[in-house]
Amino acid sequence: MIFRNQGSSIKGSNNISKDELLDIYGLNSYEFTQKNEEEIFVCSKNKELDLIELDQLLQTVGWSRRPIRRVKRALDFSILVVSLWRHDNKFPRLVGFARCTGDGIIEATVWDVAVNPVYQGKGLGRELMKYILKELKTIGIKKVTLFADAEVVSFYKRQGWTLEPKGSKCAFWYAN
Ligand SMILES: CC(C)(COP(=O)(O)OP(=O)(O)OC[C@H]1O[C@@H](n2cnc3c(N)ncnc32)[C@H](O)[C@@H]1OP(=O)(O)O)[C@@H](O)C(=O)NCCC(=O)NCCS
Repeated sequence: MIFRNQGSSIKGSNNISKDELLDIYGLNSYEFTQKNEEEIFVCSKNKELDLIELDQLLQTVGWSRRPIRRVKRALDFSILVVSLWRHDNKFPRLVGFARCTGDGIIEATVWDVAVNPVYQGKGLGRELMKYILKELKTIGIKKVTLFADAEVVSFYKRQGWTLEPKGSKCAFWYAN
């Protein structure tokens, strides 16, 4: 179970105050914790990412490596880049990630949704997706798409996503 706790301090050895939240994770970060657990997690759209740490995170979910320079460019051109951190006052740990591309006005597409396997199954992926959709809504985007491997589709369906009808609306083109 997730406890929402935006901007207030949580009892435990690793308390986080409003000022710290802002300092470490930037504006509009979202803090939450889990029942009976002292770990605090934070979604952020402003905290700077270490691209090596991101590369390592994406490797933990088995994705093939991408050149760091290209990833940097891809993030620069993304309209929303969200990182999910296990809070630590000194060394927050990147445990989840997702980003969106789009026109910034009408439509967005979600990419690279990942939660470190050590932290999977605790509701973090769901919180990450909620945060993304809230942030997209804030900038006025109401139509969001994503592409998912068949085995992950139910993760999204549980959160209210619907499949495109009969596989008839989608086309792909890949450069050789
Ligand atoms: C998919 C992923 C982001 C889910 O993160 P997570 O933190 O484990 O998910 P949550 O704990 O928030 O799970 C939310 C719900 O989805 C379900 N779920 C989680 N992972 C799932 C999966 N891979 N397939 C189907 N359902 C899944 C959970 O059982 C839970 O169900 P509930 O609502 O009945 O409790 C994570 O498993 C991951 O990083 N996978 C590898 C990368 C990947 O495939 N990303 C998706 C690219 S399209």
